[in-house]
Amino acid sequence: MKIAPRFAPFLLEKLTERIVVMIGGYGSGKSMAIAQKLLIDYALRKKTKIAIIRKVFGTHVNSTYSLMKRLIQDECPNKVVGKLGKNTNSIQFSNGSEIIFLALDNPEKLKSLDNVEVAWIEEASEIYLHDFTEITGRLRTGDTKIILSSNPLTTSNWLYRYFFVWEDDKTGEKTTIVSEDEFYSIKDIIKESDIGGVKYHHSTVMDNPFVTEDYIKQLRAYKRTDPFKYEVAFKGKFGVLGERVFENITVGDYSQMREGTQYLGFDLGDKISYNALVDVRIKGQDLYIVNEWYDKDMTIPEIADEFRKFGIPRGKTVWNDTNFPQTINTLKPMLSGDGISFQNAKKGAGSVQAGIQKIKSYNIHIDKRCRHTLREFKELAYKEINGIKQEDKYTLDPHTVDAIRYAICKVQMYVPKGDFSHDYTGQTLYSDNPMVAHLQREKKMQERKKNTTNAKVGKQVALRGRVKQPLKGE
Ligand SMILES: Nc1ncnc2c1ncn2[C@@H]1O[C@H](COP(=O)(O)OP(=O)(O)O)[C@@H](O)[C@H]1O
Ligand SMILES: [Mg+2]
Repeated sequence: MKIAPRFAPFLLEKLTERIVVMIGGYGSGKSMAIAQKLLIDYALRKKTKIAIIRKVFGTHVNSTYSLMKRLIQDECPNKVVGKLGKNTNSIQFSNGSEIIFLALDNPEKLKSLDNVEVAWIEEASEIYLHDFTEITGRLRTGDTKIILSSNPLTTSNWLYRYFFVWEDDKTGEKTTIVSEDEFYSIKDIIKESDIGGVKYHHSTVMDNPFVTEDYIKQLRAYKRTDPFKYEVAFKGKFGVLGERVFENITVGDYSQMREGTQYLGFDLGDKISYNALVDVRIKGQDLYIVNEWYDKDMTIPEIADEFRKFGIPRGKTVWNDTNFPQTINTLKPMLSGDGISFQNAKKGAGSVQAGIQKIKSYNIHIDKRCRHTLREFKELAYKEINGIKQEDKYTLDPHTVDAIRYAICKVQMYVPKGDFSHDYTGQTLYSDNPMVAHLQREKKMQERKKNTTNAKVGKQVALRGRVKQPLKGE
């Protein structure tokens, strides 16, 4: 086993603090070091129970689980019980140790945190403060340790607010626990807290001797192409930009792709905005966007022509936007001769957020010709209001993403086979962070107020002239 010098103290010394916060740029070696620690210091040393936690279960397969599996196969293949397959939620060791993989999309499963000695929360910025509080609450027994790893995302992320600078919502008063300057220059810091000692660790890709020059070059190149991303990815500094919705996208040539199940989706721009038609393929946990059409200011016959050129197989259904039923009704007979039919995509409260979560449960691959899809996937970020990330509001109106949501509106969110079945309900609970809870409550109250006023206005209009309300966009 090779270890990176930057992580040597962490790996070789016994953990003394209850909480370890490992924050750093892309590819700095955080995940590998933590996996190594869990294996050598915990799983192999004595009989113990380890938990690895992520926000969404499906994301374990290609990250924490495959990393752990690879490490075990390289270092101690004969120390595990049974064969390491692709879909599992635990690894058993011959000495009785166990690693369980958990996710917050099934809170029931957090019950299995009983008796866990060490927990690793991977990509901790993805979870919420109340999730973290829940986890620390369940891991109270004895000498339990919690390791968090993350890229430094926005300063509105709970990680920053909890471990670095806390801002009081009423007074706006800021309390610095660890300043950014201190963190980036000292890199190893220990602080006391009500929930135990906290060890901070900072790293960047320059601390990782195991990556290629090309990889480093790629991160450095953000300096020109995306200076904000450069700060986060290369320098490992908290970003000022809104948090991107899609972090990991693969770009490739999928023009010849014939596998997978094909889904087509159509977002209408009508006269105001862009039309987007997409061809999506799903195969296992992979979602491919293989073709796009994206244009505006088109007459309906022109749109019909584009559909014909797009190469839609006869008998295929296009899942469409429901905002402009007139356009769809005119388009339908024009294309029925080509064997193309339309169906209204499922919409409703929360469908945008749920649809985006669903897309995110897959590994996303975009064909390099799909310029607009690529751009929208790269640019889409969560909106921030008063510095607070809004889970259900976005910085732009992404037509290709909408079209993909429609295309797969009947497809389930990806859940690995052999996994417990779980119900994704979204996260609407008030946060345990007093500041966030307060804002959320206010927002809820304002929404409620707005809804009652809207209902009243709607009623009056209906009474007066039976004016049909236009269908409202999402
Ligand atoms: N000790 C190590 N030995 C071999 N390869 C390593 C080691 N540490 C990191 N790497 C490699 O460097 C890359 C980035 O490491 P990773 O732990 O995924 O970084 P991070 O979690 O900080 O993004 C991975 O491909 C990993 O395999
Ligand atoms: Mg990592």
